[in-house]
Amino acid sequence: MPTTILRADYAAPAFLIDTVALEFDLVPERTVVRNTMRVRRNPAAGRASNLELVGEQLEFISAAIDGHPSAAIRAHEGGLTVNDAPDAFELTITGACSPAANTTLMGLYVSGGNFCTQCEAQGFRRITWFLDRPDVMATFTVTLRADKDACPVLLSNGNLIEQGDLPDGRHYAKWEDPFKKPSYLFALVAGKLVALEERIRTGSGKEKLLQVWVKPQDLDKTGHAMDSLVRSIHWDEERFGLELDLDRFMIVAVSDFNMGAMENKGLNIFNTKCILANPETATDTDFANIESIVGHEYFHNWTGNRVTCRDWFQLSLKEGLTVFRDQEFSAAMSGGNENEAARATKRIEDVCVLRQMQFGEDAGPMAHPVRPESYVEINNFYTATVYRKGAEVVRMYQTLFGREGFRKGMDLYFQRHDGQAVTCDDFRQAMADANGRDLSQFERWYSQAGTPRVRVTTQYDEAGRRYRVTLAQDYGDASPAARATQSGPLLIPFSIGLVGQDGADMPLRLEGEREAGGTTRVLELTEAQQCFTFIDVPEKPLPSLLRDFSAPAIVEYDYGNDELAFLLAHDSDPFNRWEAGQRLATRELLTLAEQAADGRSFDMSDALVEAFRSVLTDESLSPSFRALALMLPTETYLAERMAVSDPAAAHAARRFARRRLSEALRQEWLAAYERHLTPGAYEATPEAAGHRGLKGSALMYLSELDDPADAVRLATRQYDIANNVTDRMGALSALMNAAAGKGGDFAKRPLDDFYARFEHDPLVIDKWFALQATQRGRAERPVIDVVRGLMQHPAFNLKNPNRARALIFSFCGANPAQFHAANGSGYAFWAEQVLALDAINPQVAARLARTLELWRRFTPALSAQMRAALEQVNADAKSRDVCEIVQKALA
Ligand code: PHE
Ligand code: ZN
Repeated sequence: MPTTILRADYAAPAFLIDTVALEFDLVPERTVVRNTMRVRRNPAAGRASNLELVGEQLEFISAAIDGHPSAAIRAHEGGLTVNDAPDAFELTITGACSPAANTTLMGLYVSGGNFCTQCEAQGFRRITWFLDRPDVMATFTVTLRADKDACPVLLSNGNLIEQGDLPDGRHYAKWEDPFKKPSYLFALVAGKLVALEERIRTGSGKEKLLQVWVKPQDLDKTGHAMDSLVRSIHWDEERFGLELDLDRFMIVAVSDFNMGAMENKGLNIFNTKCILANPETATDTDFANIESIVGHEYFHNWTGNRVTCRDWFQLSLKEGLTVFRDQEFSAAMSGGNENEAARATKRIEDVCVLRQMQFGEDAGPMAHPVRPESYVEINNFYTATVYRKGAEVVRMYQTLFGREGFRKGMDLYFQRHDGQAVTCDDFRQAMADANGRDLSQFERWYSQAGTPRVRVTTQYDEAGRRYRVTLAQDYGDASPAARATQSGPLLIPFSIGLVGQDGADMPLRLEGEREAGGTTRVLELTEAQQCFTFIDVPEKPLPSLLRDFSAPAIVEYDYGNDELAFLLAHDSDPFNRWEAGQRLATRELLTLAEQAADGRSFDMSDALVEAFRSVLTDESLSPSFRALALMLPTETYLAERMAVSDPAAAHAARRFARRRLSEALRQEWLAAYERHLTPGAYEATPEAAGHRGLKGSALMYLSELDDPADAVRLATRQYDIANNVTDRMGALSALMNAAAGKGGDFAKRPLDDFYARFEHDPLVIDKWFALQATQRGRAERPVIDVVRGLMQHPAFNLKNPNRARALIFSFCGANPAQFHAANGSGYAFWAEQVLALDAINPQVAARLARTLELWRRFTPALSAQMRAALEQVNADAKSRDVCEIVQKALA
């Protein structure tokens, strides 16, 4: 395996770079970059005689020290060395790169005819030689020169200070960013773009120019992004007292992008998928994602840019914190400040994502702490653990100290570290000092991998009116990778309530307290095992555990089915209401899956049907909550919870339960469908989206019926009259699902219509590919055949990450029953595609490679074939990115 980088090896840079002047002559085939830096020795570092700059895939042209050529300068394979460098000097290096040939989408590349850059984490070294590490911060001045017709718009970070024409039809623009920044926040964009503009005043009364730059044909899809940006700016002022520090803030949408978006200072670059929206082309989920990602990148301006990371092991310092901030923002925007239920909906969705993506990661060979100890390729560490578990860790400070205490910690963090590159420890220390707490034990949340498990036992003493809750923490059956990091118990904020037999919360009084106070308590579990005794408990309560998911943990408690149904009906904590239903469903489904795996016939109790009936018909619950509560855990989630993962069994179990729920509640689904129709003009509000969501769930259940006539009739009508793509896709999926069950072809016309209607809208065509890749298979036509067919479609393009994800990742990651076909056809396809992508874009290839990492957990027949596929990729892959993933999986 290539070199492993260790957190423990961090050393301050031997030199610092204070200013950088970059000049670009933008030409797609060969762009010349002239880079002039003021360099000096770092007084705080050990003495090294040579300056070592990194550079990759660069053509060296010339270099000079203080304006003169020097024999001390030597360009070589990995970079450029200045032997016996002076204490302070100006270094000018001219080189060239090839944007048009750059398919990795790191560094400077061409997307849809326009130039753009991606520098995080280590892309800047593909543009010019530099100390490409986040603890080297410089002020940047950037001059862009390009053909005026091909590139009428020239953008970079900061403020535009000069522009004008040049000979031969070229022109230039000069930009200056007044803030020091690490190289990973550098950006430029040049091409044919237009902008939606808005001017706003921020808290201090200053006027700011906001722009959303897109291709001309997309201008009508920028309104939602702009509104989201304006809301983000106001929210960050209100909630955290953080104001926009630049006169101009720009967002650019590009169609070829490895990730969602990037927080370059003053010039955020977004995947078009995360910006463009109108009702015909973007679903309700897309609208919500755009709002949260626009918020996320904007919030990085303080948490990431003003205060940045010392090294890449500290990635969660900015990502965990910024995800937490965007989650809080989205919750507030859905009406969550006033409305507890709306807030809970967002919380439930976030926890679903965590469990779906992060728990599996924590259980496999890529398990790593929120602050990793080592990596081979940093791109492989933009993970659910760093982002999502990292956000949960930040949330726990707020759970422990309250919103006010959390705000005090944030204020102290900025007071201490504005303008610096710091560590996760610095953040924790600010939280500790601002709240007068010793948080040493809390560091384990950053250093230990694996999902903690809290086992709960309770005992009611009727005579003494005492209720004893025992909490015991461990890591269950953590993977070897996770076990290696574990050193002791965590500080777990464990939120709890006690529900009485009337369904109401009991006032809580812990032993030793003078009086009862509140109905929800955050117990602080710090030992491996601890008892908490509640007194004055008049009757045996039902415990509501880990309310609002107060820690990223698995709770084990032996609830009965009727107890879960009771909590689903009564718990005052909306998150735990939902959770009770999920526990019930998971238990039933796992039993069914075992029956399927053993070849027994299915036997399902009525508990789930009755629980679903009461949720479905309870009009006091918000539609969006009901839609979430009526969703069964996914096949992937179920397979991961089986003793031995058996995707076919999980699929059969889930389908059986869905059919049972559809037949038993047929009238209720029909009634819900009719009641939540949203006739009239389209509305983008969370309430309207809630109605569409519940209506969509009802239609999907109806499409499971043995007699699909109702579903086909309703879905066909819904498709034909839809004025938004949520309804249109919902109808199309229902028709495809009904057709898969019954062998009808009533989905063909709408599927063709969908393509024809959106042929010129790549983001919607992505949905068309994804719908087919994730469809249910039919015996006579396995989905792999459909997918292979679509790979030949003229609109398919492996080089575009969104398209590759829509077809290949959807099939390999979101259609488990088909992907894990017993004949291994899915794995053969996976190996082919990982290798094909490896040669084009290693970052995207490595993401795809990860879909097999849990191979050891599968049935022996599958796992043997998965191993063979992994070995094949290991033998033929070239990139560090893919090799790290498959080698860790096989180790
Ligand atoms: N820093 C980006 C974000 O989370 C993610 C990203 C990482 C984008 C690496 C591109 C490359 O907002
Ligand atoms: Zn981020």
